[in-house]
Amino acid sequence: MKDRAFVPTMGALHAGHLSLIELAKSYSDEVIVSIFVNPLQFENKEDLAKYPRDLDADKKLAMSVGATQIWAPTVDEIYPDEPSIISAGKLGSKYEGVNRAGHFDGVLTVVDRLFKHVQPTHAIFGEKDFQQLFLIKQWVQENKIPVEIISAPLIRDKDGLALSSRNIRLGDQGRKSAIVISQALLAARESRDPQSAMLEVLASEPSFTLDYAIVIDEESFEEASASTLNSRALIAGWVNGVRLLDNMQMSVVA
Ligand code: PAJ
Repeated sequence: MKDRAFVPTMGALHAGHLSLIELAKSYSDEVIVSIFVNPLQFENKEDLAKYPRDLDADKKLAMSVGATQIWAPTVDEIYPDEPSIISAGKLGSKYEGVNRAGHFDGVLTVVDRLFKHVQPTHAIFGEKDFQQLFLIKQWVQENKIPVEIISAPLIRDKDGLALSSRNIRLGDQGRKSAIVISQALLAARESRDPQSAMLEVLASEPSFTLDYAIVIDEESFEEASASTLNSRALIAGWVNGVRLLDNMQMSVVA
């Protein structure tokens, strides 16, 4: 089978998404980008309605970095019937899943449908959404889905803030406060006690409200222990009513 690389997105493309498309080009001459705001992964109707949409701008951006096809299906095309939901299991209701019941089930269900339409040999997902990436890899492996899942590094702005379509809503002051997240991750990486180091830095910014700050074992997504080889710190929280998510690799042994 000829290689076909696939980059699934929900649009509102920024340099983080574009880096996935560029990486996809190193796997195949054919790069398909989907733009589909998946209602199944939004637990909140208002959030779904507010999701930024600008298909023309997205098409131009994606093509400018080498996408060969942009596919923006309708909801009926993806869900012509009542979809049977794929369960993300126990991990699906931890961390990012805590206040978003069914979110990761919705992600796996749409990725399954997108893969069935596109039939890619390679699919690229960003490390920005580390729990999503882990759950997709696990689901592909357990179900022997014939797609190679490629992880793409998290892209940051010059000031360290992880790129996200939500960042525009921060405002100038909020942006300054949000920098505390990447600073906390850097402090954790330098410390023998990353958990305490992160919490200390995060507590220094009164405008930041913490959801969680944890260090996980990259292989199991369990909390890191003394036997963990590769660990990663994850932080989620709020600045000015905007939810922010970030992570950074801590120790790497293998
Ligand atoms: P979306 O949020 O549009 O993200 C699409 C892809 O871009 C994801 O793989 C995400 O991890 C990656 N991405 C976003 N910001 C990034 C950054 N700063 N650096 C690197 N990669 C970044 O994630 C989704 O859409 C959806 O859940 C989807 C997988 C498309 C299923 O609906």
